[in-house]
Amino acid sequence: MCGIIGYTGKRNAKDVILSGLFSLEYRGYDSAGMAVVSEGKTVTVKTAGKVKMLENAANSLNLCGSIGIGHTRWATHGAPTFENAHPHTQGRVTLVHNGIIENYAKIKTALEKEGYRFSSETDTEVAAALIDSRLSAEGDPLKAIGSATEKMRGSFAFAMIIEGFPNVIFAARRDSPLIIGTGEEEAFIASDITAILKYTRNYLIPESGDIARVTSDGISVFDSDLLPVAREKKVSVWDTESAEKGGYPHFMLKEINEEPTAIKNVISGRIKNGVPDFSGDGENIVARLASTDRIFTVACGTAMHAGLFGKYITEKLARRPCECELASEFRYKNPIVGKDDAVIVISQSGETADSLAALRLAKEKGAFTLGIVNVAASSIAREADNVIYTRAGPEIAVASTKAFTVQATVMTLLSVAIALESGKIDAETAKRITSELSYELPEAIKILAGDDGHIKKIAAEISKSENAFFIGRGIDRYAAEEGSLKLKEISYIHSEAYAAGELKHGTLSLIGEGVPVIASACDRALYEKTKAGLSEAKARGAMTVFVSPADICTEKDGDFVIALPCISEYIAAISAVTAYQLLAYHTAVMRKTDVDMPKNLAKSVTVE
Ligand code: AGP
Repeated sequence: MCGIIGYTGKRNAKDVILSGLFSLEYRGYDSAGMAVVSEGKTVTVKTAGKVKMLENAANSLNLCGSIGIGHTRWATHGAPTFENAHPHTQGRVTLVHNGIIENYAKIKTALEKEGYRFSSETDTEVAAALIDSRLSAEGDPLKAIGSATEKMRGSFAFAMIIEGFPNVIFAARRDSPLIIGTGEEEAFIASDITAILKYTRNYLIPESGDIARVTSDGISVFDSDLLPVAREKKVSVWDTESAEKGGYPHFMLKEINEEPTAIKNVISGRIKNGVPDFSGDGENIVARLASTDRIFTVACGTAMHAGLFGKYITEKLARRPCECELASEFRYKNPIVGKDDAVIVISQSGETADSLAALRLAKEKGAFTLGIVNVAASSIAREADNVIYTRAGPEIAVASTKAFTVQATVMTLLSVAIALESGKIDAETAKRITSELSYELPEAIKILAGDDGHIKKIAAEISKSENAFFIGRGIDRYAAEEGSLKLKEISYIHSEAYAAGELKHGTLSLIGEGVPVIASACDRALYEKTKAGLSEAKARGAMTVFVSPADICTEKDGDFVIALPCISEYIAAISAVTAYQLLAYHTAVMRKTDVDMPKNLAKSVTVE
């Protein structure tokens, strides 16, 4: 939810911190700050606003230190104000934090009795005071951090500077993401690798519960018993180019245009003799899924919509009961899941708190767990029994686009594999769908993204509205869910997704002159039915958009028509979502919203 960064080494810490915060801004951007040890003193600069404001403030000072920490915030405790911006200092401890300390109020009361006073509403300032208090008692910073974090409930990734320990950054994590980057006589701490790719691709990941002592000469990691541990060194395959905009006006448009390549990447190595083959991802993944009683897909937001695609296609092809659950519901409903079930957790970041909690609960209940994850070595990727990486490269825009496309592609490929393994489809059918995914889908998306002038015209109409409805039947209902989320989260138009057959059961009362109603019909068996639903809205004044494969749609199907350059149902439905992504993008641009960093949102929701 927030982005943290720390640096110690030969460079100007301010520059490294600002560069890292700009890369991390997609994780939260309602306030920002940094602390740099400059000429022996810890100088803190904070702003209630984006990193650009912090850059202006920091550049007006002569910050020449080579060690510092920084933070870009998505508010959880306390409004996005200057006072609540990180870093927070209490006594000798200056701290930045990503996570939530759930019992901070109780700790704060106890510390106030010890004489501590607080100037912010944050749990982070309380954490700094607790560590400072323990430092007075223990003397040793590692012991102080260990005993302080023992008292904390909740999640944290901390980076801190402690007076009296020059050139050292201390870090600690529990559940919230944190990596430690290593370079020549320099070291970095960051929420994720994109913040430091400009300087190094070498990193290690402290485990949940670890505490680290980071200097330019070396890194020491200790477990929760303060015993030294060696964490595996990794090299990121991502480079700065893939983390930059590449000439596009927004990350979102760049990432939509990366979808054809991302599809090829996610499929490569997972086809053998023309049919899906996941043996490279782990032992018997498909056999396990095909032999389970029930398959659950569990996720949040866009990832959940990819899970809906998985549910639909698995049930249709493999004739297996498949539940799709919101992770935030699954984790608290005492789900009926056991050792004969499989739970597929889908997550781009691999750090979404609700999805991680759902995974842990599924494991507790003995289910077979599989992660469909984009970020390598993320928590969900590491904790699931098996993981299938979606290899989409960094997705920076808050609105998820290529991540959805590759998640839906993997879910389709997996459904084909399960159906083939269970003998529900023959090899020819498996080969056909696999080939459509491999060739027809990337081509279709390349055409849609490469020639989106027509979609821009539709966006111009939609951008004038404050409400919109997406409808569909079968898999198109799930495409509508994702289309609606995309539009509302970046254009701020209130949008709802509806089963096309449901409009007349109430919602039609909301349809009036010019209200956009957008329908897709990728399942040709439901094409006429969906058209009928759209015409009911048209008869009441709606501005209608109809999306369907080019070979069945006609100009008369709606006020506007988007002809999808592909044929088969599943491929067309995935490409329909790309059309919706482009529609949302152009609508948001015309409404001048902050497309890559829409208000109130963050890329990775690592708190509840
Ligand atoms: C989608 O555009 C949003 N960014 C959001 O719904 C996102 O999909 C959701 O928070 C899940 O994130 P994850 O895939 O990283 O778990």
